[in-house]
Amino acid sequence: MKHLIKFFFIILFISSCSNENEGVISEKGMVVSAREEASKIGVEILKKGGNAFDAMMATELALAVSYPSAGNICGGGFMVFRKSDGTTGALDYRERAPISSTRDMYLDEDGNIIEGLSMIGGLSVGVPGTIAGIFEAHEKHGSLPISEIFTPVIELAENGIRVTSNQKDRINENRKYFKLANKSHKKFDKDFQINEIIKFPELASTLKRIMLNGKDEFYNGETAVKLIDFIQQNGGIITLEDLKIYKPVWREPIIFNYDNLKIISMSPPSSGGICINQIMGMIEPFDLNKFEHNSVEYIKLLVEAERRSFADRSHFLGDPDFVNIPVKNLVNLDYLEKRMQNFSFEMPTNSDDIGYGDITIGESDETTHYSIVDQFGNAIAVTTTLNGTFGSKLYSEELGFFLNNEMDDFSSKPGYPNMYGLIGGEANKIEPKKRMLSSMTPTIVEKENELYMTLGTPGGSTIITSVVQTILNVHEFNMSMQEAVNAARFHHQWKPDSIRIETNFFSNKVMKELKISGYKLNDKGVIGRVDGILIRPDKKLEGGADKRGDDTAIGF
Ligand code: DON
Repeated sequence: MKHLIKFFFIILFISSCSNENEGVISEKGMVVSAREEASKIGVEILKKGGNAFDAMMATELALAVSYPSAGNICGGGFMVFRKSDGTTGALDYRERAPISSTRDMYLDEDGNIIEGLSMIGGLSVGVPGTIAGIFEAHEKHGSLPISEIFTPVIELAENGIRVTSNQKDRINENRKYFKLANKSHKKFDKDFQINEIIKFPELASTLKRIMLNGKDEFYNGETAVKLIDFIQQNGGIITLEDLKIYKPVWREPIIFNYDNLKIISMSPPSSGGICINQIMGMIEPFDLNKFEHNSVEYIKLLVEAERRSFADRSHFLGDPDFVNIPVKNLVNLDYLEKRMQNFSFEMPTNSDDIGYGDITIGESDETTHYSIVDQFGNAIAVTTTLNGTFGSKLYSEELGFFLNNEMDDFSSKPGYPNMYGLIGGEANKIEPKKRMLSSMTPTIVEKENELYMTLGTPGGSTIITSVVQTILNVHEFNMSMQEAVNAARFHHQWKPDSIRIETNFFSNKVMKELKISGYKLNDKGVIGRVDGILIRPDKKLEGGADKRGDDTAIGF
C-alpha cells in the first residue's frame, strides 16, 4: 500500500511537472501569478468550489501581502473575463484624480515640472480602486462567502511571507526612497535575508476589518479615516469624499479578430486593447510565416507598427468618461493600412515624421498580472498596480500597506515624458475625478470560439508590446505557453525613438543588422513578466510563469 501511495504521488508529481519547453500542466483549474503564495491561495479557493472571480479576490489580496511592491489594496487595476458560456466583459477599477486636483499641480510658477512630485509622496497618490474592484467582481460573479476568501490571506499576513532573492534586492534598492517619502519608517529599514519571514500583523488587522465590514470599511470606515489622515499628513490632497464617491466601472472590452483568433482586451482608460488591436491590425497583412522568430525583418515590422500605434496613443487616448476617443477609426483596417504605407524594411521611419494619424473626432514601472482558469471553464486576466515599484513609497505602518503613485500616469505637462518615457497629450491631462491613461493589457484569446489563452504582464509601456509578442509566439511560432513567456522581447513606443531590447537574449548578428539599418537600441533590463494560461488541443491547461520573476503557475 505504502508503495502504491508513493507511486501515485510520483505520477501526480510528473503529471503536474513540465518538460523544459512546457509549463505546468493541469486538467481542471490554474492560477499563474507573481508569487507562489498567491497562486496557491487562489488555487485553494478553486479547489473549495470557488470560481475564477472568487479566486481573483483571494489572489489579488494574497499578492498585496506577498508581493507588496506591486500587489496592493491601495492601487488599482483592470480585469477582463470570459465566462464558460462565452460572455465577456471588463472591469475598470483604475485609480482616479482627487476632486481637488488641478491640471498644473505638478508644475512650478514658471510652468516647469517639479521633479518627483508626481512620483513620490502624498501628492502622487490616486484615489485607490482595488478594494472596490474586487468586491464588485465578487458581488456580480463570485460564489463563495467573503470570509472564506479572506481567511487564508489574513493567515498569510499573520504567518508571514518568505523573502525571495528578487524581493530582497527590490527592498534594498528602494530603501533610500522609503526614507525620503516617510516621516517614520521601520518596516523595511532592516536588511532582509533571503528566505527570512516578514510578517504583516497591521495588514492582517486591516484585512480583518474589511472582511467584517465589507468595502465600506476601506472607503467610509475606520480604515478610510486613518488612510486619509495619513495621506494628508504627507502632503496629499485626497479627502474622505474622494473615497466615498469612488466607483469601479464595467466596460465593454476591446474585441477584434486576428487570423482565426478573437482577442478580448482592456478598453480605455487603458490604452492596452486599442494599441494591441492597432499593432496586430497593422502586421496582419504581412505573411509572418516568412520570417523567423525575432529575426531582423520580424523586429522591424513589429517595431514600425508599435511606433505608429504609440504615436496615436499619445494624442487620442485618455479616460473615456472625459474625452471622446475615436475608437472605431483608430482600429479601422483601412486606416491601419494607410498608417503602414510609408513603412519600409530598408530604413526606419523617423518618429518626428510620424505624428498621430489623420482622424477627425466627431461630435458624438511596478505592476503585476495574474491569470486564472477555473474548473467551470471561466477565465480571467487581471493586471493590478501601484504604478512604480512600491508606488509612492509611502507606507502606512498603522494600516500595513503601500500607497500608489498612479498620478504620474497622467500627462503632467503636454510633451513631457512620464516615468515610462510616455509623452502625454491633452486627452490625458489631469482633471478632477478623471482616470489616468494606462498601458495595462489583461487579455483573453479565443480560437474558433473556444477559450484559448489568458495572459498579461507588468512593465509600464512595454506591457502592450509584450502581450502582442506573446500571443504571436504561440500563434505564429507554435511555442508552448512557457516558451512564449520566456522568449526574448523588444519594444518601441514612438518616443524615445529607439528599440528597447533584452540584449542578452538576442544574437549580435541581429542587433548589428538593426543598427546598420539605422535603429538605435537600448537595454534597460528585462522587459515584462508575462503570466498566461494556454488551453491546449487536448483541453489541458498549460501555465506559463515568466522566468524573469518569482512567478509561479499552480494547477490541479
Ligand atoms: O497603468 C500603467 O500603465 C502603469 N501604471 C503600469 C505600471 C507598471 O506596469 C509597472 N511595472 N513594472
